[in-house]
Amino acid sequence: MKKNILITGGAGFIGSHVVRLFVNKYPDYNIVNLDNLTYAGNLANIADIENAPNYTFVKGDIVDLAFINSLFEKHQFDSVIHLAAESHVDRSITHPLEFVMTNVVGTVNLLVAARNLWKGNMEGKLFYHVSTDEVYGSLHNPEDFFLETTPYDPQSPYSASKASSDHFVRAWHNTYKLPVVLSNCSNNYGPNQFPEKLLPLMINNIVNNKPLPVYGKGENVRDWLFVVDHARAIDDVFHQGKVGETYNIGGFNEWKNIDIVHLLCDTMDAKLGREPGTNRGLIKFVEDRAGHDLRYAIDATKIMNELGWKPSLQFEEGMNKTIDWYLANREWIEQITSGEYQKYYEGMYANKLS
Ligand code: NAD
Ligand code: TYD
Repeated sequence: MKKNILITGGAGFIGSHVVRLFVNKYPDYNIVNLDNLTYAGNLANIADIENAPNYTFVKGDIVDLAFINSLFEKHQFDSVIHLAAESHVDRSITHPLEFVMTNVVGTVNLLVAARNLWKGNMEGKLFYHVSTDEVYGSLHNPEDFFLETTPYDPQSPYSASKASSDHFVRAWHNTYKLPVVLSNCSNNYGPNQFPEKLLPLMINNIVNNKPLPVYGKGENVRDWLFVVDHARAIDDVFHQGKVGETYNIGGFNEWKNIDIVHLLCDTMDAKLGREPGTNRGLIKFVEDRAGHDLRYAIDATKIMNELGWKPSLQFEEGMNKTIDWYLANREWIEQITSGEYQKYYEGMYANKLS
């Protein structure tokens, strides 16, 4: 029998890579991509698979429970891979309630609908929640890494909303025996990432000779993973992960923000035929993010040992692919950096860049 799978947030950055992988790799699955097409959702991200026979796109809001219940009833989903979310920390600082609605209420709605449909027979069903390493808080000791057992200590409205949704997913497993699995991943980079996040923002600003706003002193550390490797990990967790378990996903690839910005600047001097050092001249240290987490670092040993996953790309190769993609897809970026985004960006940085 065909598997009916709901993927939420499939028009966004990571979701689009997950939808593409599943649609191409599993012709026997019926994949429904549910996305509300917020500022971060873009059907151009998945234009290549829009006519695939095993694929359906539905525009809709996970915050609308009546609609979600009817969608589950209509498609008789066997599994859910839930990625839809408000995902940007800076926006969570200015618009926290949207994060509570989408990330917390939206996730609980999906849990309610899944239970409504599956409560007679949970056999073979799965609710997979895709989450972030930011739920674990900020590391201060250089020896420490986030493990699956690390206590939750979210520090931003974004990470608090994701931590809350993770807790609800586990509560549905404990209380109602809903079959769930979770993964918590480090910072992703790659094609189709909205240019409010560090790497695409810097790439776009370098192309346009605009200032590169580095928060604080650029000393904060993130662990970076190529988005396609995250999608491969999601495939592995979905098919082989143990019900009730959590898997940390990361690249063992830590970078200080300033070092990664330097790398981008130098690589793009060469790619754009600029004199060495030109792009570094665009760097501008700006006011720090409120409550800025110092360091995230994932220990991904569990998924590597138990599911045999490992990153396929070296970081330099992934960065090259990413920069080349943004340089070759100017239309994609120009379409989304005009209009509303422009207003947001100007509002966000007007004070910092003056
Ligand atoms: P994104 O912002 O690029 O995409 C989110 C998608 O969800 C968009 O297509 C948007 O339209 C959709 N969406 C938002 N609100 C919705 C709603 N109410 N109803 C239906 N759809 C809605 O985010 P992303 O970076 O692709 O992240 C996807 C998931 O992965 C999120 O849950 C995020 O927390 C998690 N995650 C992201 C990262 C990262 O580095 N980006 C790392 C780890 C985990
Ligand atoms: P971001 O891409 O927003 O991801 P997250 O906050 O979820 O880790 O930011 C990555 C790092 O880069 C983070 O430490 C904040 C910093 N940063 C800047 O220095 N300047 C910027 O313009 C942005 C967007 C982020």
